[in-house]
Amino acid sequence: MTQDELKQAVARAAIDYIAPKLEADSIVGVGTGSTANYFIQYLAEIKGKFDGTVASSEKSAERLKALGIPVYELNSVDAITVYVDGADETNDKLELIKGGGAALTREKIVAACSDEFVCIADGSKWVDTLGKFPLPVEVIPMARSHVARELVKLGGDPVYREGVVTDNGNIIIDVYNLHIDNATELETQVNQIVGVVTNGLFALSPADVLLIGFEDGVKTVRAKG
Ligand code: A5P
Repeated sequence: MTQDELKQAVARAAIDYIAPKLEADSIVGVGTGSTANYFIQYLAEIKGKFDGTVASSEKSAERLKALGIPVYELNSVDAITVYVDGADETNDKLELIKGGGAALTREKIVAACSDEFVCIADGSKWVDTLGKFPLPVEVIPMARSHVARELVKLGGDPVYREGVVTDNGNIIIDVYNLHIDNATELETQVNQIVGVVTNGLFALSPADVLLIGFEDGVKTVRAKG
């Protein structure tokens, strides 16, 4: 199976997982990226079974609307039944690195507002230790150099993601060469740097369920402890 076929398989599995939870007034949180795009495609097949969605990026919102799926502003909904999104890395605690698509802040906000966070990923995203994928950090533009210097003190090699402006008007710094043994501690430390909006570690609030695609099928993993 190709990586793309594995992404399709987990996106399809997510539809099967969430469908029984949805009611006529349910809101579905929708993530960003190539795996989430397949989820959006399949979500259109059940669009009459829930009220609408909240999207974690302008790109996903456009895709949803193009398929006739209602998209609401987060501030206008009371609750989100489930949030479905991809990841760049996951470990067995379902701690994630996200933000390869620069949507990490809105992703973290929508995840925080959702009753359940279902992560969908192909098997290449499974790691023992987080950090091979550079950690994305969303930064207020004027704080770029300051934040980069502070990230070096934390042991990383920060690289400015050229030409990328987030949906919130900010920049992204990708932090290379981190070996993340304590993801909750690092998530907190990076967020405490003045000028950081948020970082792509989802460890303080990891995913609730991971649907991960391997050659021999989609595995359902729940966070340990
Ligand atoms: C978007 O900002 C990211 O958090 C994505 O969820 C992540 O990069 C996974 O993307 P793919 O599904 O394209 O691998």
